[in-house]
Amino acid sequence: MFVIFLGPPGAGKGTQAHKVAEELGILHVATGDILREDVKQGSDLGLQAKSFMDRGELVPDDLVIAMIMERISRQDAVSSAVFDGFPRNISQAEALESRLADRGASVSAAVYLKVSEAALVSRLAGRWLCRECGANYHEVNHPPAQVGRCDMCGGTLYQRSDDAPETVHRRLQVFLEQTEPALEYYRQRGLLAEVPGEGPIAEVTERIIRAVSGPGL
Ligand code: AP5
Repeated sequence: MFVIFLGPPGAGKGTQAHKVAEELGILHVATGDILREDVKQGSDLGLQAKSFMDRGELVPDDLVIAMIMERISRQDAVSSAVFDGFPRNISQAEALESRLADRGASVSAAVYLKVSEAALVSRLAGRWLCRECGANYHEVNHPPAQVGRCDMCGGTLYQRSDDAPETVHRRLQVFLEQTEPALEYYRQRGLLAEVPGEGPIAEVTERIIRAVSGPGL
């Protein structure tokens, strides 16, 4: 079972992919999180990826595809995974299809979270994350009990540098130019599940589970 989450920045891919992976009891692979960890560690990949991420551009395909292929070659991803933020263009979609086909597997469903641009901009402008455990807050929709402190672990909260308004604008453009064609790729294969991504988080999760439930899932 391999499920993909697609959607513009702030659509709720990370929030929902985490919940759905937990619900299905399978691995959650988030490309943005892996890349940010590499940047933090100062690895070769992190050093190469940073300038693209800071500008809101996609990290080059050769780097991201190699990173994901290595990740899914491990034992915990042999038969299932939820991908969040991968693929983001046709080349990445083709690389994934080809690698899964080598194992006699294929993508089971591609979930496209649809959210209005106004909601995306407000979600990203108000997003705060915990430096320690990665917990996700929003200053209006889901504020922490104490400003700047994580409810879960007491860690310090920070805002992502690519959530600055000008970078968000570029990330939205990149989605339209490069990721929308990948939606068509999955639509043509009958795998695209379009899910309204606004409303309470738990309701969105239920919509996704209903949309992807069916033979093989
Ligand atoms: P990545 O980290 O994947 O960023 P993104 O796709 O821009 O998505 P976000 O993480 O901003 O948003 P999300 O959709 O996960 O929403 P979230 O659940 O956090 O990638 C970052 C960068 O890495 C890219 O720009 C690129 O440079 C690089 N990269 C990554 N993958 C790559 C690839 N495959 N190829 C090349 N480069 C790649 O929710 C957002 C906020 O909304 C949160 O505060 C949340 O609490 C809130 N929220 C969620 N759901 C709801 C709801 N229903 N109602 C109200 N608020 C909600």
